[in-house]
Amino acid sequence: MSDFRGGVTDYISETFKLEDEILKDIIKQQSSASGPMMNIGPDQGKLIELLIKIHKPQRVLEIGSYFGYSAVWLARALKSNLVKAGENKEIEDCEQSRDGRVAERTSSRQYPLLTCLEKSSKQIDIIKTNLEKAQLNSIAEVLEGDALDFLKKQAVDSFDLIFIDADKASYPHYFTFAEKILRSGGLLLVDNVLGLYNSEVLDLANNDPRILAIRKFNEMLAGSDAFDSTILSIQSGLAIAVKK
Ligand SMILES: C[S@@+](CC[C@H](N)C(=O)[O-])C[C@H]1O[C@@H](n2cnc3c(N)ncnc32)[C@H](O)[C@@H]1O
Repeated sequence: MSDFRGGVTDYISETFKLEDEILKDIIKQQSSASGPMMNIGPDQGKLIELLIKIHKPQRVLEIGSYFGYSAVWLARALKSNLVKAGENKEIEDCEQSRDGRVAERTSSRQYPLLTCLEKSSKQIDIIKTNLEKAQLNSIAEVLEGDALDFLKKQAVDSFDLIFIDADKASYPHYFTFAEKILRSGGLLLVDNVLGLYNSEVLDLANNDPRILAIRKFNEMLAGSDAFDSTILSIQSGLAIAVKK
């Protein structure tokens, strides 16, 4: 979640041409809708793309997709890794099926690279359509439901990368599950760990339950022996952690 257009973000985005028409269109869709702007910044999207290119995860989980802006960044990076690894033929095959599910592909890999979890039913078709427009529907599946219900059912070591950007009040719970379902060496990325729109965690008089939950999450992460971690002060804070 961020709403930091203008200033540094626009300078970086425009200089490095971070957004193409598809990403810009998702931003426009959000502006035209009545709800808040909640996507990650383009600078965060690029950072996540680079981390995926370095880390080369196979199974990625996104918690909270909204209009699919961050999902497009994640799925594009995963697709780029596939292309580099010479799996383009497989991508073409499953794009032809246009079923949005990698699971039905003919390849040996029987799971989607990216699973997007989204609670709001009205967002599901929007996310799917945006992924399809970006020709990423074969890379990602979009699941409707409460993230906690999903997380409870996952086995240990199920994911190589987890990106959390959903309801802040649940962050401490998400941390507990992420610790379990992320494999050793896996990457945990969490948005808004400094606040909702600014660095509200610094204001100790701020007792908004979401800010209290973010602070608790940060303390859990910082105190965990299972992770090597820090917070990058990009937008409203991105936690980055590697599971030991
Ligand atoms: C900040 S927005 C996500 C923005 C998106 N990551 C991006 O950068 O484009 C948070 C999303 O999380 C979803 N959400 C909130 N609580 C959730 C839950 N318990 N389970 C799954 N999704 C949830 C909201 O409906 C909303 O779409």
